[in-house]
Order: sequence, then C-alpha cells, then structure tokens
Amino acid sequence: MTAPTPPSSPRIRSARGSLVVAIDGPAASGKSSTAQWVAQRLGFRHVDSGALYRAATAVALARAGETFDEGTVLSFLGEISLRPMQHSFAPIWKGEDMEELIRAPEVTRLVSRVAQMAGVRAWVDTNVRKAAEGRDVVVDGRDIGTVVFPDADLKVFLIADPWERARRRLTQRHGRAPSDAEIAEETERLVQRDARDATQTVQAKDAILIDTTYLTQAEQVERIVSLAGIFRGGGQGSGTEPAG
Ligand code: CDP
Repeated sequence: MTAPTPPSSPRIRSARGSLVVAIDGPAASGKSSTAQWVAQRLGFRHVDSGALYRAATAVALARAGETFDEGTVLSFLGEISLRPMQHSFAPIWKGEDMEELIRAPEVTRLVSRVAQMAGVRAWVDTNVRKAAEGRDVVVDGRDIGTVVFPDADLKVFLIADPWERARRRLTQRHGRAPSDAEIAEETERLVQRDARDATQTVQAKDAILIDTTYLTQAEQVERIVSLAGIFRGGGQGSGTEPAG
C-alpha cells in the first residue's frame, strides 16, 4: 500500500516559524508511543496532551478524592508544571515526575470526566501551545488537529480495531501476551472510554487516516515520517526506538 498524499502538502515553513505534526485518535490507538518515536526520528519534541489531562486527574484525586468538581480541579492545576526533557515534556508535581502516577488505573477510569471540564481543556490547550512555541513538535491527543493546532503542518488520525488496541495496551502494561478473557474485558473499558471521549475525538478534514490494525509500530512510524518528509525534504533520522 502506498502512503496517501496529504490534501494540503506544506512545502515551506508555516507562518508560525516552527512545525507542528498533530497525531489524534481514540484510546490506545498507539498515538503517544508513535508520536514519541516520530519526534525522535524528526528531531522534534513530543508533547503528550493526554498526559496533562491525566496529571490534572491524578492531582485532583490525590487532593480531594473521587468527588471533585470542576472548581476543585481548577484550584489544583497551578501545582502542575511541565519540565522540558531531551525529546519530550514531563508533567511535574511536588518536584516529582508524574509518569507512574498518571498511568494508574483509577486515573484512566476518571480522566474522561476531567477532560469534559472546559477550564481544564483551556489549561491543557494553553500549556500545549506554550510547549510548542518556537520549536518543532509532534503533539498527540484527540483534538490537536481540530482545536489546539487547526493550522498544524501535518495531521494524522490513527485508528485500530478495538480488540487489537486492547491487546496492545495489555501487552505494553504487563509485558506478556494477554488471555482472550483479559482482552475482552479491556476492549469493553476502551469502548466505554471512546464513548465518553467521543465529543472531542474528531478527525480534522485535512487529516490523513491511518488504520494501524495490521501495521507494526515501526511501519506506522515510517508512514508518518515519510509524510513529514514532504516538508522536511525527506524523512531522516535513526530507526531506533525512542529513549523518552
Ligand atoms: O493513551 P490513551 O489513548 O489511553 O489516553 P491519553 O492520550 O493518555 O488521554 C487520556 C484522556 O485524556 C482521554 O481518555 C481523554 O479523555 C483525554 N484527552 C482529551 O480529552 N483530549 C486530548 N487532546 C487528549 C486527551
């Protein structure tokens, strides 16, 4: 299969002066890991917008328990900062990297509720745009190509069969092949989260749709890097996995 041609192929740097690759898609469609790898290949920074929704959820949960409302969540957002890393940005709380905290199952269960809060969405959008200022970035999320960067230089929308998404997520989480029963249970959770996130999970009209069900991660990375080659004068970089 040949890679599709982007509807509007940007060949020069946009007015922004730096480049934005937007990768959107439903839960566990491989956006973050793909975005991280693509960023490394292109020499861009990766910005994970979902990590910020997760960070807001984790802090609200730690501070107020499960009964938080929007006012409560907003009152704690100032405690979170974004630390620039070599290839990405890490959410920091109380001086600590939040990576482990934000992947906790109770955060995954509650994050869609927090993501409906307009004030939280505005906070994430501001922080993502700030992180992208003056540098080339790969940003992943659900509304990056529609709301956060409607003028992104390249937009990709990743989809995959729910069963396959669940299988990949469990393999990543447990480091072993999951059973069919485990995959069925995780598929149910993913489909429910997709439904809760449906309003903001929108494919931009000028996004390129990639179904990754039958692609390896290396193949999907390669596809995006070659699409990005349109404005980079050919996809460059090493084929090694990202260091984070
Ligand atoms: O990796 P996964 O797809 O499981 O989720 P994520 O990218 O870490 O995002 C976690 C949650 O944040 C999603 O379930 C959405 O509720 C929310 N989100 C959003 O609303 N808009 C975004 N641009 C990114 C994430």
